[in-house]
Amino acid sequence: MTDTETDKTDTETTTPMRTDGGDPQDAIDAQGKRRREELDDRIFEHSAGDEQEGIPFVGAGPGNPRLLTVAGKELLEAADLVVHAGSLVNSELLDEYCAHAELVNSVGKDLEELIPLMRDAYEDGENVVRLHSGDPAIYGAALEQMDALEHEGVPTHFVPGVTSAFAASATLRTQLSLNEVSNHVAFTRPQGKTLTEAEDHISEFVEMGDVTTCIYLGTHAVRETMDRLLEDDHDPETPVAVIYHASWPDEDVIIGSVGDIADKVEEAGYRASALVVIGDAVTGAGYERSFLYGDWANRGSGSSDANDADAQANETETQAGDD
Ligand SMILES: C[S@@+](CC[C@H](N)C(=O)[O-])C[C@H]1O[C@@H](n2cnc3c(N)ncnc32)[C@H](O)[C@@H]1O
Repeated sequence: MTDTETDKTDTETTTPMRTDGGDPQDAIDAQGKRRREELDDRIFEHSAGDEQEGIPFVGAGPGNPRLLTVAGKELLEAADLVVHAGSLVNSELLDEYCAHAELVNSVGKDLEELIPLMRDAYEDGENVVRLHSGDPAIYGAALEQMDALEHEGVPTHFVPGVTSAFAASATLRTQLSLNEVSNHVAFTRPQGKTLTEAEDHISEFVEMGDVTTCIYLGTHAVRETMDRLLEDDHDPETPVAVIYHASWPDEDVIIGSVGDIADKVEEAGYRASALVVIGDAVTGAGYERSFLYGDWANRGSGSSDANDADAQANETETQAGDD
């Protein structure tokens, strides 16, 4: 990963690298072309969480080893080689579940190193696990590794994990979507090396008012992000929380507003590994009771498509006697 937030500590690399995997961009392009032309049968053959052949791309969760999925734990316990995402994966988790496996830190390694490493181990009959922080599908750059491996005949699949925004909302004891407060949730990142100014939509999400904006990879840029919001005339009192190392033993929570959070984060000295949450849902205040346990519970399912999700959820919950 090339993000400025990524910790460059690399203490556990023990495997010599081959660099004969071909150009990964060619592999990515070829896989993309294939994907556009035909659907992958495995989409219909497997569900998330199923046992599957190949190299699993496992979400380690936010940090606390207890927040790893059961599927992830089983795969790690059976692994011979675990290629992990460095400092964003809690070493406690590696100690607990991967004590017997060879560990390779992926930080600072490019695809040219990583792909032959995983391919060769897999072809030698080893159980290989690629371990990403949180969920691999959120700012994990997993698909390019998977495409490059698949292009070389090595099957891969995702094993989801708890993304850090979910750990942050649990820590804050709130919901990211909250009736009448936040109807939408945005997972986003600020402009920088990867995103241009035009691709940074944080101000637009905040402008919408009923969005909880979860900013990944933005700890080092809290001041710039808040300054931009103030320049765009957003309310300085808009709630903001910064959760450093959500679910880790040294987790820290900083609560503030668009107007004062930058000072607080700078005072705490965090430049990486925190999630920034903007919006009224941060406080968990001001919401209204939901239809689900109100009108819908009393009236049963409605007929309109727009209400299907609520109606089905209501049906299921009611059948389960959850009320
Ligand atoms: C490369 S992204 C990976 C995100 C990860 N795939 C996920 O789903 O959480 C790294 C960023 O995720 C956020 N992050 C990851 N773990 C975190 C944690 N335990 N607490 C707070 N933020 C975290 C930080 O913003 C960090 O800069």
